[in-house]
Amino acid sequence: MLQLKNITKTFGSVVANNDVSITVRKGTIHAIVGENGAGKSTIMRIAYGFYNADSGEIFVDGNKVGIRTPHDAIALGIGMVHQHFMLVDTMTVAENIILGAETGTAANLDLEKANRDIKALSDDLKLNINPAAYIEDLSVGQQQRVELLKALYRDAQLLILDEPTAVLTPQEVEEFFAILRRMKEQGKTIIIITHKLEEVLAISDEVTVMRDGKDVGNVKTSETSAKDLARMIVGRDVLLRVEKTDAEPSDVVLQVNSLKIGGKHGAAIDDVSFVVRAGEIVGIAGIEGNGQTELIEALAGLCRVSSGTTEFEGKNVTNLSARRLKELGIAHIPEDRHKRGLLLNSDLAENSILGVHYRPPVASGGFMNSAAIDKRIHEIVENFDVRPPIPALSAKSLSGGNQQKLIIGREFELNPKLLLVSQPTRGVDIGAIEFIHRKLIELRDSGGAVLLVSAELEEVTALADRLLIMREGKIVGEVDPKTTSTEEIGLMMTGG
Ligand SMILES: Nc1ncnc2c1ncn2[C@@H]1O[C@H](COP(=O)(O)OP(=O)(O)OP(=O)(O)O)[C@@H](O)[C@H]1O
Ligand SMILES: [Mg+2]
Repeated sequence: MLQLKNITKTFGSVVANNDVSITVRKGTIHAIVGENGAGKSTIMRIAYGFYNADSGEIFVDGNKVGIRTPHDAIALGIGMVHQHFMLVDTMTVAENIILGAETGTAANLDLEKANRDIKALSDDLKLNINPAAYIEDLSVGQQQRVELLKALYRDAQLLILDEPTAVLTPQEVEEFFAILRRMKEQGKTIIIITHKLEEVLAISDEVTVMRDGKDVGNVKTSETSAKDLARMIVGRDVLLRVEKTDAEPSDVVLQVNSLKIGGKHGAAIDDVSFVVRAGEIVGIAGIEGNGQTELIEALAGLCRVSSGTTEFEGKNVTNLSARRLKELGIAHIPEDRHKRGLLLNSDLAENSILGVHYRPPVASGGFMNSAAIDKRIHEIVENFDVRPPIPALSAKSLSGGNQQKLIIGREFELNPKLLLVSQPTRGVDIGAIEFIHRKLIELRDSGGAVLLVSAELEEVTALADRLLIMREGKIVGEVDPKTTSTEEIGLMMTGG
């Protein structure tokens, strides 16, 4: 269905794709895997006309085509769902879907027909999406399905999905895969980029591995394994599980007392109390949207609490500003790296000093100390393997996983006494996951307190020394992750 031949694409001095050839067969699900920055998104964006290749050829159904813009790609039946959703929050599903797709005619007439068409598409694939719903009221999983509908509405026969499961809960991933299988049955072709090897094995027919801008392998899924894929991706054996000793917790660093936080529909957090000690990782498990985001944001000073208190090293710090909390030694790795974590249009050096830009050693006497900034960014890119390691690059030109490594490096650079961390390895490649897990454990072992939220049950149970279960804004239990089964934890999460 799609053949990319000898594609090369450079961005300045960075060779994102180096003579890449990929063949995708009609009616199959084709996975693309590889490290952060390997060139996966770039090659797919070329197929979608979002970028133009410097050289190489594209064939669709055996015919050589010129894809200069997404418009050309759509006309050829190619749709793409990007790594970061591109929906307008304050508009409805239908409005988002027809945005850019309709031509010139009276808008409200189109909308009625669009509503019907979208409903039919949604029913056909059992997507369960109401065209009149507002995007901001939808879960992330539902927003994803809207992105799918958007492509299908434009009659895509080949769908390119860039890390579609990175933001989904395990339950949502199951449902999503069922949808992909239905699409395949209908004859659609799907390309899926993912870092999760178990997903590759579960859903794909064929896999292409990319490394350093090149395609380094192509295998039938039935003829490979997670271990083999990991080795092809990273070029060495990868530890696919966490290794740590027992924690040795000491003083209480964070104490949360009967915390309550208001939300859009009732309390987001209700009567939550717990402690985190120096030298331990406390995990919070729960289905996303059960208050974890609000809790972490409140502790980081990004949203106000309605009642209750938080104490840091014995002092009341309730509702102090983010800046003040950071000064006290609380670092925060946010779940949404675009909204909270980075200034996308600023360069890596500027991003490396966010939050400390006004104080020594970065600033003194009203001046920025460029040597100190230089030192900082170099340490971060070196210690956290941010690629490419070019301080003057803008943050938006980093691949998704490298943006995440930059944020993590910046927060570790603060030598925090307490680290608040949400979804640390979302969108991060398997080698980097191993690395980030080790860093979190090192921080713990050097006496840091860590509060970890992750939608990956496997991750949070592997890392946490104690596990709190959150449901509907409340902590409904605490378990020892070493002795509790994931089924049991899952049941507590859902209240089943
Ligand atoms: N618009 C851009 N400007 C400059 N460099 C870019 C741009 N887009 C990508 N790059 C660079 O090209 C290389 C490949 O990036 P790409 O986004 O394709 O990686 P990826 O395999 O999708 O990684 P990830 O798994 O982290 O999403 C990276 O080094 C990246 O920094
Ligand atoms: Mg990518």
